[in-house]
Amino acid sequence: MATSRRHSKITAALFLLAVASTTASVARARVPAVIVFGDSTVDTGNNNQIPTPLRADIPPYGRDMPGGPRATGRFGNGRLPPDLISEALGLPPLVPAYLDPAYGIKDFARGVCFASAGTGIDNATADVLSVIPLWKEVEFYAEYQRRLRAQFGAARARAIVRGALHVVSIGTNDFLENYFLLATGRFAEFTVPEFEDFLVAGARAFLTAIHRLGARRVTFAGLAAIGCLPLERTTNVLRGGGCVEEFNEVARSYNAKVEAMVRELRAEFPRLKVAYISVYENFVKLITNPDQFGLENVEEGCCATGRFEMGYMCNEDAPLTCDDADKFLFWDAFHPTEKVNRLMANHTLEVCYQEGVL
Ligand SMILES: *[C@@H]1O[C@H](CO)[C@@H](O)[C@H](O)[C@H]1NC(C)=O
Ligand SMILES: *[C@@H]1O[C@H](CO)[C@@H](O)[C@H](O)[C@H]1NC(C)=O
Repeated sequence: MATSRRHSKITAALFLLAVASTTASVARARVPAVIVFGDSTVDTGNNNQIPTPLRADIPPYGRDMPGGPRATGRFGNGRLPPDLISEALGLPPLVPAYLDPAYGIKDFARGVCFASAGTGIDNATADVLSVIPLWKEVEFYAEYQRRLRAQFGAARARAIVRGALHVVSIGTNDFLENYFLLATGRFAEFTVPEFEDFLVAGARAFLTAIHRLGARRVTFAGLAAIGCLPLERTTNVLRGGGCVEEFNEVARSYNAKVEAMVRELRAEFPRLKVAYISVYENFVKLITNPDQFGLENVEEGCCATGRFEMGYMCNEDAPLTCDDADKFLFWDAFHPTEKVNRLMANHTLEVCYQEGVL
């Protein structure tokens, strides 16, 4: 009798323990998909399928991909943050590009990327290099949902979209490829603060649109220290190749406005869990404490001279490409290495857990 009572108590305790641990693991494993919007920082290959010169489909791009070198269109030596986030969430190690004919809706149900290198929040930015404008990424997202419903039925399609983590990274090209580079169009039309406000309004409209389409878990990245990209340092030779402080200042003031907008959206749509990701501060940490992260060069890209090459100028005939990209902050003159992408993926997930996005 006593034994059996003790036994049933132990059974009950074990049962409670099992329930508790199941609940915990369910809470962490409950992300059905990673859905990606933005530019080259997160484009996993869409530009390979459209007529644009802005591509990363030749070696040495992708030389450190899992399973061996493969130039997939990712602007880097390996994987991008969305891939690493997907893997960390127990989903596939690569997030497929929506336009890649090698994948279908069953793959996209576990992760899909609508991003396009060279695009921006401003429609005019996508025109510069004939890439996919952000509004078109949203149209693809709506089309994707129709395909999900056709394949899995309305209830499951809805559960996938609501549960998915939406990763958004965009904005650098609006300043560096459009406003400051062209120095016509928007430059003539807007002052810097006006252009920032225009972009933040565009970002808000975008987030509102995907929320309306069912997105509930979202991360929105701010700008990096864009004045410290190798390409911008190169244009700054007269000042010793240092960071272009004017651009970093713009990044800081734009970021502050984006962060405030994200806070407002959270208040306006209580069911929208959206987090702002402070990329800038993380970049500054790497640049000011490279040793702490095992980095030896934070000023030049690994590929070629590292001062101006990206896309087709970063190729196998270009001399001087480094051997170990893990010692570099930048892979080419514009994009970080996989090592840095790992740190960004980790930071993004940490923020998601802290802020209740996941
Ligand atoms: C961008 O273009 C789309 C489609 O033409 C349009 O609906 C949208 O209003 C435009 N956005 C801006 C900010 O001009
Ligand atoms: C981020 O990195 C730290 C240190 O390596 C690790 O302890 C932590 O689990 C990582 N977080 C995530 C969400 O992967």
